[in-house]
Amino acid sequence: MENLLHVEGIVAGYGDGPAILDGAGIDIQPGKVHCIIGPNGAGKSTLLKAICGMLDIRQGDVVFKGESLKGLRPDQILRKGICFVPQERALFPKMSVRENLRMGGFILEDPKLLESRIDGILDRFPILRERADQMAGTMSGGQQQTLAMARTLIIKPDIVMLDEPSLGLAPKIVLEMFEIMRMMSDEGVTVLLVEQNAQIGLKQSHWGVVLDLGRTLIEGPAEEVLADPRIQELYLGGKRAA
Ligand SMILES: Nc1ncnc2c1ncn2[C@@H]1O[C@H](COP(=O)(O)OP(=O)(O)OP(=O)(O)O)[C@@H](O)[C@H]1O
Ligand SMILES: [Mg+2]
Repeated sequence: MENLLHVEGIVAGYGDGPAILDGAGIDIQPGKVHCIIGPNGAGKSTLLKAICGMLDIRQGDVVFKGESLKGLRPDQILRKGICFVPQERALFPKMSVRENLRMGGFILEDPKLLESRIDGILDRFPILRERADQMAGTMSGGQQQTLAMARTLIIKPDIVMLDEPSLGLAPKIVLEMFEIMRMMSDEGVTVLLVEQNAQIGLKQSHWGVVLDLGRTLIEGPAEEVLADPRIQELYLGGKRAA
């Protein structure tokens, strides 16, 4: 199947600083859940930021649907259908759930379309409908992460990138978040996530990518990556046990 997004040999860093990404590459297939794992400081978050236009790409390329995204601003990349949820989720804690959803649809120009999309999301996520008028910051971590993920769907994105969506959540809630990601991918929304817990992340995803020192170390079907002896040694069995 043709790749939806192809990242090849990218070199990028912050401002004039050193290259954090040093040749990283990744292939994203439509409708699948892709999980990036790797040690702290490997460049996982930086890779997502580079894809969504927050960093200058010094070398290499990011190609989406056959077209280079190099040089585009984050809002232009969002309009093309790539949505990024940073680690801190970027919700507006003092705004209601409904207002947060409205903010997620700021690129939609038709107010009627926006309201009908919000309605559709509230139908699909009953917990959000129940709390539509509640301030986002007063909800539980799992509910806030549900809102952050649901909010991306307002613009009917092609790709949703999530940086550590399970951070700080109880194991049962983490599985619920993965269920939402599966549901998104079943509906044709491609998911690219960064996950700290290699085992859970790879078990719940279709495709696995191991990043280290700004480079792609291993990439393949998630179960193969999980079974790779290098992973076992690095993350699962050894000192860095997940
Ligand atoms: N805003 C920034 N300005 C300068 N350097 C940064 C910035 N953000 C991250 N870095 C550096 O980039 C490197 C990679 O960071 P990054 O956040 O991409 O790693 P990560 O793989 O996401 O790690 P973690 O598992 O801790 O989230 C680190 O050395 C970090 O210090
Ligand atoms: Mg990170």
